[in-house]
Amino acid sequence: MHRQVLTITLILLMFNVFGRDEGSTTDDSGLAFEDKLAACAACHGVNGDAPLAPDYPVLAGQYKDYLQSALSDYKTGRRQHIIMNMQVEALQLSDSDIERLSAYFASKSGVVGLGE
Ligand code: HEC
Repeated sequence: MHRQVLTITLILLMFNVFGRDEGSTTDDSGLAFEDKLAACAACHGVNGDAPLAPDYPVLAGQYKDYLQSALSDYKTGRRQHIIMNMQVEALQLSDSDIERLSAYFASKSGVVGLGE
């Protein structure tokens, strides 16, 4: 539990560290899509293929539908995990964010050979 709290704190700090690109559009949350992606990258890797910890999943190369449904389930609370439920909430992921993020990570090459 302590590690999760620490991680979440680090993520919040990160928002101050990452400057916002000039000209990127923000939505009601005050965040641009790039900001949301940068938050995901902190734990899952820029391409979704470099998880921060062994129990953090690889997103790269997973089916877009699967990622989309997982994120929607975190949003509705159907799937419970403190970290991801908080991410979806803090970043105010819209359905269109969920669609774009899922398409982005699905388009990346998956990690081959894990578990072999
Ligand atoms: C603080 C670290 C952290 C951040 C930031 C984070 N995630 Fe996660 N993510 C996790 C962990 C841990 C899990 C595993 C949760 C579980 O077991 O349900 C997870 C699970 C997921 C899953 C489910 C994957 C699967 O195989 O079922 C998806 C999809 C996902 N994250 C997408 C994202 C996206 C998109 C973002 C950015 C908006 C993001 N995550 C930000 C830590 C993080």
